[in-house]
Amino acid sequence: MLTIDIYSEICYNNFVWGNSIPIAENDERICEMQMNEQFTILKSGAEVRSRIRELAAEISADYAGITAESPLLLLCTLSGAVFFSADLVRELTVPCEINFLKVHSYQGIRPAGSPIFDLGENIDVRGRHVLIVEDIVDTGQTMHTVMQNFTDKGAADIRICTMLDKPSRRYPQLKDLVIPDYTGFEIEDLFVIGWGLDYNQKYRLLPDIMVYHPEAENGKEQ
Ligand code: IMP
Repeated sequence: MLTIDIYSEICYNNFVWGNSIPIAENDERICEMQMNEQFTILKSGAEVRSRIRELAAEISADYAGITAESPLLLLCTLSGAVFFSADLVRELTVPCEINFLKVHSYQGIRPAGSPIFDLGENIDVRGRHVLIVEDIVDTGQTMHTVMQNFTDKGAADIRICTMLDKPSRRYPQLKDLVIPDYTGFEIEDLFVIGWGLDYNQKYRLLPDIMVYHPEAENGKEQ
């Protein structure tokens, strides 16, 4: 049986079963090799790339009036959103800067309680247009805390751009408070990995967004 680690290694060596094939051109081929029940493709790399281009066009249009003197400030949540934000920022056509926030809120497939933050004490957001770039919005507590923090610090306005949203998982009290302004894909209540998303720090490098089935990992959910 092909394990996910071997799959990842194969992909990033750009080799599939010994053939040298660039991954970006071979999503179908990769689907065919999903012989391990641990994971299934939810969104292929091609779909994600295409959606990112659409989001970038929408964001660029919305911020068309922004000037180089006060560029759009993208705040990327580490580590999960680093791939998404890197792709997004390179497609934007408006002046922008990028900075990073360290956020950690998951242990295995479960929220670890309160999110742990390094909320970028040195980032001056006063009067700035801020776009928080997140990998996935789940209960909403991470985005709620981040938004509150930067509102208190005097940002002119704050919006959220998330690659994925799981609205069915939102804490009821945050339903009206955490509504992403830009969403790549709404998904069901699934645990997903790849394109920056991890399971206990593993699988971030997978080139597709995949559903993770923890029961397959030696029968143990961690
Ligand atoms: P929230 O605070 O509950 O909205 O959680 C958001 C954070 O939880 C994300 O930034 C991810 O780090 C993590 N997370 C939520 N769902 C998933 C998932 O399906 N896969 C990987 N990480 C997830």
